[in-house]
Amino acid sequence: MSTARTEPTVTVASAAPADLDVDLLALPVFGSDDLAQDVGGLSAASGGELARARASGEFRPKPRETLLVRTVGDGWRPPRVLHVAARTEAPDAGAPLREAAAVAARTASRLHVGRLAFVCRGDVDPVRAVQAAAEGLVLGCFEDRRYKSDREEPTLRECIVVADEAADGDLPAAASRGRTLAAAANVARELAGEPSNVLTPRVFAERAAALVGEAGVGVEILDEDAIRSLGMELLLGVARGSSEPPRLLVMRHEPPHAKESPVLALVGKGVTFDTGGISIKPADGMERMKEDMSGGAAVVGALRAIGQLRAPCRVIGLVPMTENMPGGRATKPGDILTGASGTTVEVTNTDAEGRLILADALWYARELGATHLVDVATLTGACIVALGHVSSGLFGRPAAWVDAVRGAGERAGESLWPLPVGEEYRELLRSEMADLNNVGGRPGGASSAAAFLEAFAGDLPWTHVDIAGTAWDDKGREDRAKGATGVMARTLAGLALDPGAW
Ligand code: BES
Ligand code: ZN
Ligand code: ZN
Repeated sequence: MSTARTEPTVTVASAAPADLDVDLLALPVFGSDDLAQDVGGLSAASGGELARARASGEFRPKPRETLLVRTVGDGWRPPRVLHVAARTEAPDAGAPLREAAAVAARTASRLHVGRLAFVCRGDVDPVRAVQAAAEGLVLGCFEDRRYKSDREEPTLRECIVVADEAADGDLPAAASRGRTLAAAANVARELAGEPSNVLTPRVFAERAAALVGEAGVGVEILDEDAIRSLGMELLLGVARGSSEPPRLLVMRHEPPHAKESPVLALVGKGVTFDTGGISIKPADGMERMKEDMSGGAAVVGALRAIGQLRAPCRVIGLVPMTENMPGGRATKPGDILTGASGTTVEVTNTDAEGRLILADALWYARELGATHLVDVATLTGACIVALGHVSSGLFGRPAAWVDAVRGAGERAGESLWPLPVGEEYRELLRSEMADLNNVGGRPGGASSAAAFLEAFAGDLPWTHVDIAGTAWDDKGREDRAKGATGVMARTLAGLALDPGAW
């Protein structure tokens, strides 16, 4: 299958907007700010369109709202100008620019233009501004039309971020970093959008290996025999119901002069389709369960960016990959499985399969020498009930490590909201027969799922991110196409790029 990724080039220029040789010029507009200072000549070239549209109420300062105007006049080159209303309040200074740039790129793609310039405006550190704008441009033009026979080649090939090149900091490097991070999220979106008949565990492993291998990351694909040798009965127990064999993808980023420690382990749920197994899900909406490998896809995307950007610390990426099917040899409710760590688990509900495969992978991360753990998973419907489709659920300990992951999310414009975990939630998982039950009942379902994982994290700093509500956007927005969001790919890469922050 062809790729859905069509990332344009992103360069930096400090020319005056009026002089840019582009098809479309985009400008973020903050509240009722006056463009006259930065973009002199626009009012005259557009016949005062912005003022008129503001006065008539056609263009309001509502984030992501747009106003497209035509321009004429000798002193003005871009034939069209897109005003994008930008947020004036955000948890991170880069966020409004990222969002406005994404709206600009999405609009440019719809207008079939080839060259787009985006002007970095506002009081933001130039390096962060340029990176955020580049991210937004590359995220905004992603649209997965791989399976449409009438798809056209995307036209947007070149993006220019307009910023003051005399400012402190390496702005071209910031643009390139932003483009790489956004492309990593697009890799995750492309993988997560694949139907499960195409992306089986074996295919997922092969594709992921190629994607990170290109970036200089070491890869190993463990097959069923290797998984059995490691004693991972929890992963095998989920895979039993399927005729597709499981895989465990092991990725290693080992920069030449990196210190022995820290070793960051990123673990992602890679269920390529979740029917629920014998505890089968209702038919309605089940097609969405192809997204149940989004955590794994985010980890693969992150490792690719980590390799490309030569992150300074060691990173291990682990993705257990399997289908959850109700085949004749499937694990049945009440079955007891023994994980690689030796912990026994009574599987009361086979639909709580994510925590089982992650448990073995978390154990393996510790075996491989991880010092810090983060796992990412479309784990619970309960997390969607708690946080909707806006924030991912964040669990873990100690608080400093949870804060570090949350901070990385904030800088990437991905909201992570803390939810509780710990001893009292672990008590919900008591089993008559085994060490743990795999489910803890409906109340507090996201936290008891996290408490299950915590039991496999040993004493290491660990965070768990539940992306069940944020991995997929079924409506789409002005800045984002419908479908897989690639959430957490940029946050995880950002964490590895800045180990000084933790
Ligand atoms: N993959 C699902 C969680 C999910 C639900 C992800 C909706 C994305 C959208 C997970 O494996 C699951 O089925 N969880 C169960 C757990 C329950 C049986 C304790 C759930 O949340 O209902
Ligand atoms: Zn499930
Ligand atoms: Zn699942």
